[in-house]
Amino acid sequence: MCVEVQGSPGAAGSAASDSVHSTGQASRIAALDLLQAGIERRGGFDEALGRAPFNRLPVRERAFARALASTTLRRLGVIDRLLAPKLQRTPPMLVMNLLRLGVAQLFYMDTPAHAAVSTIVEAAQAQRDSRPFKGLINAVLRGSERDRADPAKAQASSHVSPQTYAPEWLFNRWRAAFGEAAAMAIAARIPDEPSTDLSLRDPADAPELALALDAEILAGGSLRTQRRGDVTEWPGFEGGRWWVQDAAAAIPARLLDVQPGERVLDICAAPGGKTLQLAAAGGVVTAVDRSASRLSRLTENLQRMGLSAEVATADAADWSDDRLFDAVLLDAPCTATGTFRRHPDVLWAAKATDLAKLAALQVRLLESAARRVRPGGRLVYCVCSLEPEEGEAQMRAFLDRHPAFSLVRIADGEGGAPPRSLTFDGALRIHPGLEAPAGGMDGFFAARFVRSESI
Ligand SMILES: C[S@@+](CC[C@H](N)C(=O)[O-])C[C@H]1O[C@@H](n2cnc3c(N)ncnc32)[C@H](O)[C@@H]1O
Repeated sequence: MCVEVQGSPGAAGSAASDSVHSTGQASRIAALDLLQAGIERRGGFDEALGRAPFNRLPVRERAFARALASTTLRRLGVIDRLLAPKLQRTPPMLVMNLLRLGVAQLFYMDTPAHAAVSTIVEAAQAQRDSRPFKGLINAVLRGSERDRADPAKAQASSHVSPQTYAPEWLFNRWRAAFGEAAAMAIAARIPDEPSTDLSLRDPADAPELALALDAEILAGGSLRTQRRGDVTEWPGFEGGRWWVQDAAAAIPARLLDVQPGERVLDICAAPGGKTLQLAAAGGVVTAVDRSASRLSRLTENLQRMGLSAEVATADAADWSDDRLFDAVLLDAPCTATGTFRRHPDVLWAAKATDLAKLAALQVRLLESAARRVRPGGRLVYCVCSLEPEEGEAQMRAFLDRHPAFSLVRIADGEGGAPPRSLTFDGALRIHPGLEAPAGGMDGFFAARFVRSESI
């Protein structure tokens, strides 16, 4: 799965502060669908955005429904703690999710309390399976409304240990992998909505576009803006001068240091944020992905930017093409736990069993990538995951399996790598707790290899 929104037009950020007076039960039911799908399975949130009830809502109500579901996911750990003393036993998931949406509005959005409670009760009434629980929902949310008015209890909703924001099993993994302080710094970022980062087609445009977009220029050349709203209306979108791409996601392609005219293979390329970078650098790019629908977004993105690439729809592990390339990028499918700032659903959808399956797929894709690197050519492997099985462990196992490849250390600050993001052997391990005061970045792992000339 990939949950990045790179290059895709649409709304940047959400509308958590939107007035809700004009929105009602329908938007709550759509938020419920987003929340349930987001928790149930990887990619579920994005799927639910593309179907009814969400895509039948008027645009303004869509913004509210999405903001409500996202706010609930960002605060889920705390919301469940607020609800626990009010529930003698855990109710059915549908009911639990309605309660979560109610508490999210009461504590974290500017919904008037009466509207927060009544719209959720109405949404419960509207569905057969939640109807018998309408009384319970009303009583629990009225109790939460009273808590909100009590300063001591209201404070408990905002002053919590960062660890409360994360699913316990993931937090324990981060603590084991990175240490207590880093795990806390990562978890502390979960409730925050990130700024929007942009990659530029032409780096020389940075000063002009930074001015036009109220943005700062980051170390690697990305722009960072606090603007909200529809990115398609921002200066430079129409002319294809930039695309949306998290600053961390922009680093791996830079590590390949593609020169004009080099043959470059981008494996697992869609929706194409990294393809655009490689093509903008002058590479002759072949982009492979198994998802035709995601590749059509890649093609649209290329067209908007006035860039080109050969596009192939294939399972990259079995792709029959036997050409060799100067540079290969593999941005492998992963649990995407590093992207929780933009996609809080990933935290709740991730399952330990998925991790094992994805790690096995990453091995197959790495084998395929290695076969396509010419002697002397470069390979960058990356994942937007915080889990070492998908990053550091893949790198070490790859080096053990492939004596023809050696690791090429990433230099301090190379490609915009933030300070303290290099591992002792010279790979990149970015986590969202790094550079937090400057706005932070998504979590990413990247390693760069070179194939020997002779083997
Ligand atoms: C992390 S996302 C890629 C993001 C992309 N590189 C970018 O920068 O926009 C992973 C991609 O892997 C693709 N994928 C998953 N399994 C695949 C396979 N076996 N072969 C080819 N593509 C695959 C998914 O369709 C998804 O588009």
